[in-house]
Amino acid sequence: MERRIVLITGASRGIGADTARELAARGDHVIVNYREKRKRAETVAEEIIAAGGSASVAGADIADPDSARALIDTVVSEFGRLDVLVLNASGGLERDAAPDYAMRLNRDAQARLVTLALPHLPAGGRIVFVTSHQAHFSPTRPVPAGYEPIAASKRAGEDALRDMSAEFDRRGIGFVVVSGDMIDGTIIVRLLERRNPDAVTTRREQGALPTVEEFAAAVADAATIDADCGHTIYVGGADFLVDH
Ligand SMILES: NC(=O)c1ccc[n+]([C@@H]2O[C@H](COP(=O)([O-])OP(=O)(O)OC[C@H]3O[C@@H](n4cnc5c(N)ncnc54)[C@H](OP(=O)(O)O)[C@@H]3O)[C@@H](O)[C@H]2O)c1
Repeated sequence: MERRIVLITGASRGIGADTARELAARGDHVIVNYREKRKRAETVAEEIIAAGGSASVAGADIADPDSARALIDTVVSEFGRLDVLVLNASGGLERDAAPDYAMRLNRDAQARLVTLALPHLPAGGRIVFVTSHQAHFSPTRPVPAGYEPIAASKRAGEDALRDMSAEFDRRGIGFVVVSGDMIDGTIIVRLLERRNPDAVTTRREQGALPTVEEFAAAVADAATIDADCGHTIYVGGADFLVDH
């Protein structure tokens, strides 16, 4: 069978990199997108190829409209189509981030990339949006201090994509959201731990945090499983899932 062409944004490290490894191991060709860390992305792709998989890299700052357009153009000119778009790249906790950066990246860039990709996604294609419980449940649950702009912007990004569901349905394209608790060992959790150690300690007291491998496996599942448009897969954080 022909390999699916899968673009994973922000796959030079962390959850995106592990998702790329997982999907490649399941038989897809993965395009490892990075913003700055080309060498790291190349290493991810080389490791996948060394393990018998198929991978390539594509640099782009998805928050930059020209760069996002060039990314999709490059994918289409190289592969002729795109079967799965995994919206994993996220940010806003960076020390030098402008006040509106989180919204530009986590909402505007996600909706723009989907709009650019839609004409190239065949029926049966798939869009996966990766988010956190702190963002997904943010309208109704308290958000850790320091994480509010990320939570609000990622929730706004999810809402913007859900608003496009009728168009996804019309085109026969699947849309699945994957929401995770804090994920052990990630840079985001280390940054949050520095800014708000209590928030992380409190989560750890609820039980072990999911690992990067567990979360990446769920994101890879979301790229494949039979699911209604807008279905959400939850990873960890059982307390978020009960009604209060
Ligand atoms: N970490 C957690 O605890 C956790 C929990 C639940 C959900 N999630 C979600 O999982 C996803 C990945 O999280 P992570 O912890 O693995 O993130 P991460 O370690 O911060 O990695 C971010 C990735 O995104 C890329 N990136 C950042 N800004 C970009 C931009 N403007 N354009 C293109 N790429 C960009 C980075 O590339 P460069 O390094 O090349 O700049 C990097 O590859 C996010 O959507 C996050 O919300 C994370």
